[in-house]
Amino acid sequence: MKGLILCAGKGTRLYPFTLKHPKTLIPVANTPILQSCIEKLTEQGIREIGVVIHPSQEFDIREQFGLGEGMHVTITYIYQYEAKGISDALKQAQSYIGDEAFLLLLGDNLISDHLTELKNDVEERGSHASLLLAEVANPQDYGIAEVLKDRIVRLEEKPPVPKSKLAVLGAYAFKGSIFTAVHAIKPSARGEYEITDAIQWMIDQSLPVTYHLTDKLNMDVGTLERWLESNQKMLDEMPSHKAIHESVTLSNCTIIEPVSIAKGSVLKDCVIGPYVSIGENSHIENCRIENSIILSGVHVQHISHLLKNTVIGYQSVLSGSHVRKEGESQ
Ligand code: G1P
Repeated sequence: MKGLILCAGKGTRLYPFTLKHPKTLIPVANTPILQSCIEKLTEQGIREIGVVIHPSQEFDIREQFGLGEGMHVTITYIYQYEAKGISDALKQAQSYIGDEAFLLLLGDNLISDHLTELKNDVEERGSHASLLLAEVANPQDYGIAEVLKDRIVRLEEKPPVPKSKLAVLGAYAFKGSIFTAVHAIKPSARGEYEITDAIQWMIDQSLPVTYHLTDKLNMDVGTLERWLESNQKMLDEMPSHKAIHESVTLSNCTIIEPVSIAKGSVLKDCVIGPYVSIGENSHIENCRIENSIILSGVHVQHISHLLKNTVIGYQSVLSGSHVRKEGESQ
C-alpha cells in the first residue's frame, strides 16, 4: 500500500510565517507537521509515499526530507500547480498510485489515532472509502458526515447549517475507484474540486463508504490560534526526556514544563514555560516566555514584559533594554 500526503496549500491564514516556508514544515512541539504525517504512514508499514507539493515548495521540503532516506521511506514528489482542491491533487497523483488502495493524509492535519481501521476497511472489509470522523464544536469549518450504522450516507463541505457535528478529519483510505470519482465531479462554489463531493459521488453509486470515530487529539493547524493550541497539546503528549536537546546551554534559567528546546539553542537568565517550544540555534537572554512558539535562529534579549501567546518567526531579532538588577526575581 502506498501513502499520499497533500502539502501544496499556500497556508495563507498563517502568513507571514508561511510566505517563504511551506505550511507543512511549520513545527509543532519542534516537529514539522510533515514528519508527523510520514510517521503516521510508516506506523502502518507504508514505505512508498507520494508528497503533493507546489513546485515552489520543493527546495525547502527536499532540504529537510530529501527522498525520505532519513525516515526509511521513499518519497516521490508530485506537483500540483494550482490550488484547485483535494480531488484535483488526487488527479495529479493518479499515475503514481495506480489502481491500488492507498492512505491519504492532509499535510496540515495532526492526527493522534492510528489508521489501522481505515486501512483494514479498504483492504479487507470491502469499503471503497473509509474516513476518520470526530465530533467537533465548529462543524461549519469542516466536511460534515451524516451516518447510518456503519456507513456514511451523506457528506457536505463546510455547511452553513450542519446536519451533524461529525467532522471529516484529514485522514482517508481509498480504493482505486476514488479516481473515477474525482474525474466525475465539478468544481464547488469556491472553485475547488472537493474531496467531499468525490466521496458523495461514490455514495451515490452505492459504493460502500465507512468511517471510524475518534476522540483522540486531532488538529488542523490552519490558523495562529490553532497552531499555538496544537503546540500546547503536542507538548503535553511529549515524553519529558525529549524536551530539551542535550546540546542546549542553559544558564541561570527556570524551566516550567512542558517545553521543547531544540538543538544548539543557548538560554541565559530566562523563565521559560509552560508550553514553549524553541527551535534550533536560538539565543534567548533575560526574558520570560509562556505559551509561545519560537522558531529557529531567533535572537530575543532583555525584554521586560512577559512574552505570551506569541509566535516569533525564523531568524527574527527582538531586542529590548531591560536590565536585570542583581537579586531581581526572574
Ligand atoms: C479540508 C476538507 C474538509 C475536511 C478538512 C479537514 O478542508 O475539504 O472536508 O473536513 O480539510 O481539515 P480545508 O480545511 O482544507 O478547506
